[in-house]
Amino acid sequence: MIRQIMFSRMTAQTARFSFVKCGSRNKRKMIVTQCIRSISSETSSDGHFFITTPIFYVNAEPHIGHLYSALLADAACRFQQLHGLPVNSLLFSTGTDEHGLKIEQAAVANGSDPLQFCNKVSHKFRYLFDLANISYTQYVRTVEERHKCAVKHFFSKLMDRGHIYLGDYSGWYCVSDETFLTEAQVHEITLPSSEKRLVSAESGHPVEWNTENNYMFKLSQFQSDLQYWLKDDKRVQPKRFHQQLQRWVNEDLQDLSVSRPSYRVSWGIPVPGDTLHTIYVWVDALINYLTAAGYPNTELWPPDVQVLGKDILRFHGVYWPALLIGIGLEPPRSLLCHSHWTVEGEKMSKSLGNVVCPQDCIKRYSADGLRYLLLRGGTPHSDSNWSEAHAVHILNVELADALGNLLSRCTAPSLNPNQLMPPLDQQYLKKMPLAGQKLVEQLVELPCIIEKHYHDFNFYHGIEVAMAAVRQANAFVQEEKPWELKNLPDSNHLDSVLRVALETVRMVGIALQPVVPTLASQLLDSLGVPVHHRAWVNLKDGFSNAQYDNLSSSFNLGPRKKLFTKIKL
Ligand code: MSP
Repeated sequence: MIRQIMFSRMTAQTARFSFVKCGSRNKRKMIVTQCIRSISSETSSDGHFFITTPIFYVNAEPHIGHLYSALLADAACRFQQLHGLPVNSLLFSTGTDEHGLKIEQAAVANGSDPLQFCNKVSHKFRYLFDLANISYTQYVRTVEERHKCAVKHFFSKLMDRGHIYLGDYSGWYCVSDETFLTEAQVHEITLPSSEKRLVSAESGHPVEWNTENNYMFKLSQFQSDLQYWLKDDKRVQPKRFHQQLQRWVNEDLQDLSVSRPSYRVSWGIPVPGDTLHTIYVWVDALINYLTAAGYPNTELWPPDVQVLGKDILRFHGVYWPALLIGIGLEPPRSLLCHSHWTVEGEKMSKSLGNVVCPQDCIKRYSADGLRYLLLRGGTPHSDSNWSEAHAVHILNVELADALGNLLSRCTAPSLNPNQLMPPLDQQYLKKMPLAGQKLVEQLVELPCIIEKHYHDFNFYHGIEVAMAAVRQANAFVQEEKPWELKNLPDSNHLDSVLRVALETVRMVGIALQPVVPTLASQLLDSLGVPVHHRAWVNLKDGFSNAQYDNLSSSFNLGPRKKLFTKIKL
């Protein structure tokens, strides 16, 4: 049956790999039919694009790190749409992770009933994502009935296939991370009070010793499948996380406890047929991705890209693909793992009191202001630092001054009385000053370079390239002094200078749509660029076209509006 479903979705050209059960239950054979693509932001073979964010714990309020996970996915979707992906072919899922001890304890500490507590915080995440224009198409909450059904179905399937056994588990458990840890993953620290404490070596959160009778998943049997899945060195980006995952997968894999006794954890989904056990919250949570896709229906499976932070790589890169292979489904096509945001050089945490609230930032900088700061400053391969002073500086220098002033200068009625995107005189290109020649060179290359960076989810890099063109355009305008050219009897020179500068703004406006959708659309409106001329291909309408002939005709500008108001520190 699974085999049938999987192959019915694959064509010779599109199939990547599939797992086919041969002979006995546990004998798996992985068949690589064709691997035409690994991590990529191209649309799926079947014409849709499926991307996910992690689902967020509701024990605390959203912060900018959470929003960053969602923004990477959102920018990737918008980039797809600029390439012609129809809205109804996009599956972009996000949501909230609401079961488990940690959430139950947070609800108790809040004096609330768990569900009411979850409703409140889940709503805050959703509200934030709406405020930040995250264009998700599915919002999954693990307390929803559809999700509980998906989890029960999945778990029963694992049991039916003989991948689960009841065993005695003794080991460390970290409630903050909701994770079981081996001896090697735990170390001792000395508190300022000289008291000694055992903590998770990775997160620093306290651990406790548990001896329980739990359902176990035979993770150890999936080592070669995982190694195979990781053979494609673009499976996980950036590279350092791919390598990290390979190291973990090559170590001895221990079986995974996938339930907790319900007398210890009652806020969760019971194991099918055994209410004395609750399904481990991470297994519950990971299945949200299937819930979003309509599981048990698997037509839309697997995701093209799963976005996640570095702290949850093991769950997504070891346990999740193994669980999926266990029930005969394809693992995700790719993972995009990002690093974390620190604040003024320190880890962001409630106990340090330095959590940056995204809603406050949106009030201060606007949704697009915050989107710009996070996508411009966030580097997936290494941690990024948030600083209030730096944030204000960047927005003022780049959006208000460099981009905003370029637009307002070149559309000012004093320089541009006919309110036109004026025509470029091709002869002018031959006598341009050096700053102009350099700018044209940048513009010719800009679509391909930015495309490559966005494609690799390096939005920060694409933004840098766009802003370098803006800076160069300002240098060019400064050198050409259009305010002096307006006194010349012939308007050719002035028109050409304005057109080159405004063409830069048009291209940057198109390229920044995935990053700052509202601001970019406002900018393109000001230039009078019709909505159906804002796709990625339209980047090549001007300087990338060998003859530059589109630039010889003029069109009317739109209404003038200030792009970005400077922020006071
Ligand atoms: N609930 C789990 C995920 C389950 S997915 C099946 C979880 N939730 S979380 O709320 O703690 O984290 C959600 C995402 O936010 C993760 O990708 C995590 O890496 C990310 N971030 C949390 N803190 C962060 C920063 N300081 N900076 C950037 N991202 C951060 O884990």
